[in-house]
Amino acid sequence: MREIVVFGDPILNRVAEKVEVFDEELTRLAAEMHRIMISAPGVGLAAPQVGAAIQMAIVDVSVGEDPDQLHILINPTICETEGSQKGEEGCLSFPDITTVVERPYRVLIQAQDLAGNPFELQAEGFLARAFCHEIDHLKGVLMTDRISRLKRDLIKKKVQKRVKAGTWQP
Ligand code: NI
Repeated sequence: MREIVVFGDPILNRVAEKVEVFDEELTRLAAEMHRIMISAPGVGLAAPQVGAAIQMAIVDVSVGEDPDQLHILINPTICETEGSQKGEEGCLSFPDITTVVERPYRVLIQAQDLAGNPFELQAEGFLARAFCHEIDHLKGVLMTDRISRLKRDLIKKKVQKRVKAGTWQP
């Protein structure tokens, strides 16, 4: 059983590898990621967050309630963006920490599904934010890379305190 890795683990800062083989193992990993995401609970999870440095991420803003809202993105790219939005963001690799992050309001994404078939997806608002956050993970970019140094240092201090207390184990 895989577990969520938290900030401090170097896998979160690495560029993930492109998926070339679309096999049963990949499908199993996507299903396991979905289970882990739901039990966390969260609205998205990227493969590097469970120790697999490959370009796959899932987003499900229904947190498992509505199968139509599960999006599995393999080798995704953001092709177009429009507007901007500011909002509170969390990350399963930063338990109990949120921060305000600026993101595009609308995005157009190209990705592949579990069979390797390419597709396009448009999203706006919170869903667009979730896609941007997860696709960032695949590039080794975290929400703390999208905020001011001052805010980033505050979060790092919080984490360091918890590492000392033994409640944060990268
Ligand atoms: Ni995250």
